[in-house]
Amino acid sequence: MKIVIGGAVREMRAVWYEEGAVHMLDQKLLPHKVQVVKMTTYHQVAEAIRDMTVRGAPAIGVAAAYGMLLAANNREDLEAATEELKGTRPTAFDLFFAVDHMNAKIAAGIDPIRAADDYADTIVERCRRIGEHGEHLIKDGDRIMTHCNAGALATVDWGTALAPIREAWRRGKEIFVYVSETRPRLQGMKLTAFELLNEGIPHAIIPDGASGHFMREGVDLIIVGADRIAANGDFANKIGTYEKAVLAKELGVPFYTAAPLSTFDLSIERGEDIPIEYRGEEEVTMIDGVRIAPIGSKALNPGFDVTPSKYLSGIITENGVLDPKDIRENLKGARL
Ligand code: MRU
Repeated sequence: MKIVIGGAVREMRAVWYEEGAVHMLDQKLLPHKVQVVKMTTYHQVAEAIRDMTVRGAPAIGVAAAYGMLLAANNREDLEAATEELKGTRPTAFDLFFAVDHMNAKIAAGIDPIRAADDYADTIVERCRRIGEHGEHLIKDGDRIMTHCNAGALATVDWGTALAPIREAWRRGKEIFVYVSETRPRLQGMKLTAFELLNEGIPHAIIPDGASGHFMREGVDLIIVGADRIAANGDFANKIGTYEKAVLAKELGVPFYTAAPLSTFDLSIERGEDIPIEYRGEEEVTMIDGVRIAPIGSKALNPGFDVTPSKYLSGIITENGVLDPKDIRENLKGARL
C-alpha cells in the first residue's frame, strides 16, 4: 500500500517478517502516527492481535502465521502456540485457517520461514485478484459505500472491499467513496479514510447512522469485507454491516462482500453458528481515553454482526464473483 510520510511516498505492507522479527504497522496509532513495532515471540504476536495493533481477518491470519514461525524459530511447543494464538479473537476465520496451515506445513517438513512468507504472499495475491474481479462491478462515476476497514491494513496489502476500489481508481474511473466511521473503534474513519487519502481517492467520512440517508440520495454500490463466511453465504462482518445490507435491499442498492477463500468456514452451515466477539464496554463508553457516557451506565459491545446471504448480490473472491448459493460447488478443491 502507498503511505505518504512527510511528503515522501512509501510502499509498505501491514505485516512482514525481516531479520528474525515480525514487523507490524501499529494500527492503534493511525492515522496520526505511522509506527512499526517488532516482535520476536509468539506471545507478543498474540498480544498484538488481542489489542488490535493488527486487525482485519486476513491480516490477523498472516500475523498468526508469523507467530507460528516465531514459535518454531524459538523451538517452543507448537501446540501451546496454536492454543494461545487461536485464543486471541474468536470471529475472524483466517486466524484459525492460518495456524492450521502453518502446523500442516511445519509437520510436512517445510521451512517455517518459507511457509509463513508464502502464506503472506498468497493472501496479498488473492486480494489483488479480488481487486481485478471486483473492479468490473464498478462503473465510471460510481459512488461506492464501504464500512469498517477492509483495506490493505486489514489484509497486509490491497484489501478486500478496497481492492476493487483501488483497481478502479488505477484504471482511471472517477469514483467517490462513502466511508462509514464504524463506531466504536472507528476503523472506517481512522484507517479506511487514511488509505484512501494516501491513494488520492475522493471520499468522505459519514456517521454510521447516515448510511440510509446517502443510499437514498444515490449510492451505486456497497462493498464490505467479511470476517467469516458460512457455507450458506451468511457472513460475519464489523458491527453495523447487517443494517446496511437490509437498507440496501430495501432501496435497491447492490450489496457485495469481498473476501479471500481463507475467510470461508465450510464447517459452519449458517451464520447463526458463527461465534461473535464481545469486546470491553470502555470501547463504547469512552472515546480515545475520554469517558463520554454517564458513569454508571453499562454498554454492550458486539464486535460483529451476521448478514444473511439473501441480502448479498455476490461474494467477490480471488476466483471471481460467487453466487452465495453456489459456495460449496465453487470452492470444491480450491484451497491455499
Ligand atoms: O475488529 P476488526 O478491526 O479486526 O474488524 C475486522 C474488520 O476489519 C472488518 O470487519 C472487515 O470488514 C473485514 S476484515 C477485512
